[in-house]
Amino acid sequence: MSADHVGPVVNASDLVLPPWAQVTEKRRAHIARVTALLDQWSTLLGLSAEERKAWHDVGVLHDALRDAPEDELRRLTGDTDRPMHILHGPAVAQRLAREGERRVDVLEAIRWHTLGSAHWGRTGKALYMADFLEPGRPFSRADRAFLAAHATADFDGVFRQVVRTRIEWTVREGKMLFPETADLWNSVR
Ligand SMILES: [Fe+2]
Repeated sequence: MSADHVGPVVNASDLVLPPWAQVTEKRRAHIARVTALLDQWSTLLGLSAEERKAWHDVGVLHDALRDAPEDELRRLTGDTDRPMHILHGPAVAQRLAREGERRVDVLEAIRWHTLGSAHWGRTGKALYMADFLEPGRPFSRADRAFLAAHATADFDGVFRQVVRTRIEWTVREGKMLFPETADLWNSVR
């Protein structure tokens, strides 16, 4: 688990993932950008060392099994029927808990980062925003850069906007809206 390397992640080669991580090079670059954004926000918000490390660690770890095979994700989560693309967060949380990770905010942030959770504190919200607002995603670049730049001045306002944007996209694309995501919207609207 990421224990000693809380230094800022500047690029993908600075990123230290756990030995069991399964990520493509493209994914590794995404993880580095998410973590860099979280590090930047923690500095601007003047977070305590403890909270800063939690934000950093969820950035590093959230997609650690994003490119793992379906049977492994199902084995780790015990989930036989929900879609595969929502299982990597729960799988990482499961794996970390088994290795002794006890920080509830870290585990919950990672577990729910794809669907969202109405029960998050700041760590889960920060990861959900950074995952969406990191600069490498190809769509809505100017809008997302604006939100990323305002996240520290209006944390809850930007979080609400990110939740809304992600849900609007989900519905527009005709994708399934999960109950956890609907609960998240109802908790911020
Ligand atoms: Fe991600």
